[in-house]
Amino acid sequence: MKKFFSQIPCIPSERLVLRQLRETDAAALNELMHSPMVYRYLPTFLFERNSTDAREVISRLYDECLKESLILGVFMNEEFCGLAEIYGYREDARKVSIGGRFLERFWGHGIADEVIAALVRYLREETDIRLVTASTMVENKSVTHVMQKCHFALVDSGVEEDWGRPQPTIVNKWSLPL
Ligand SMILES: CC(C)(COP(=O)(O)OP(=O)(O)OC[C@H]1O[C@@H](n2cnc3c(N)ncnc32)[C@H](O)[C@@H]1OP(=O)(O)O)[C@@H](O)C(=O)NCCC(=O)NCCS
Repeated sequence: MKKFFSQIPCIPSERLVLRQLRETDAAALNELMHSPMVYRYLPTFLFERNSTDAREVISRLYDECLKESLILGVFMNEEFCGLAEIYGYREDARKVSIGGRFLERFWGHGIADEVIAALVRYLREETDIRLVTASTMVENKSVTHVMQKCHFALVDSGVEEDWGRPQPTIVNKWSLPL
């Protein structure tokens, strides 16, 4: 059973590979980091938002960030599509949360579905995690649809959370027992 986050997994799926980011991925990550549409419905404190320099983000991603969260690059035919994240590990509850963000040109092709399925399969088969959760903005209609397609249950709706904005963010809370 793998201990979080002692190993950085490489997770293949039908069309995608979820793997550790490398220095050579900096230009692609830079494009994502500078896409306002991508971050419209996301917390302000995501790790890659701490810097404007993608090379620096990658150099720190697997040391200091790894204490809190595991961020993997998502690739289709070796082309960078975006990021998948596992965070909020609670050993006592055997629970983690997941999240993702993808370049706009990849939206609407089922990438989020496939990434979630790949993360869930990895967590179920290779770790002792028993509950996967996610928080999404109520306003973010496409992600609501994605969570439903992936069989997550809506456990709370319209909850106020601090996502780093001046006003509380209104979110949906989702969970999937493994
Ligand atoms: C939200 C996001 C992850 C979805 O990724 P994606 O790969 O485009 O998702 P998918 O293609 O798997 O599915 C999107 C679904 O939403 C549907 N959709 C799109 N806009 C919608 C809307 N306004 N209302 C309802 N459904 C909508 C699409 O039709 C599609 O459903 P379908 O497959 O049944 O046709 C992606 O748009 C993204 O990275 N956004 C920016 C970051 C973000 O918001 N991340 C999630 C935060 S928790």
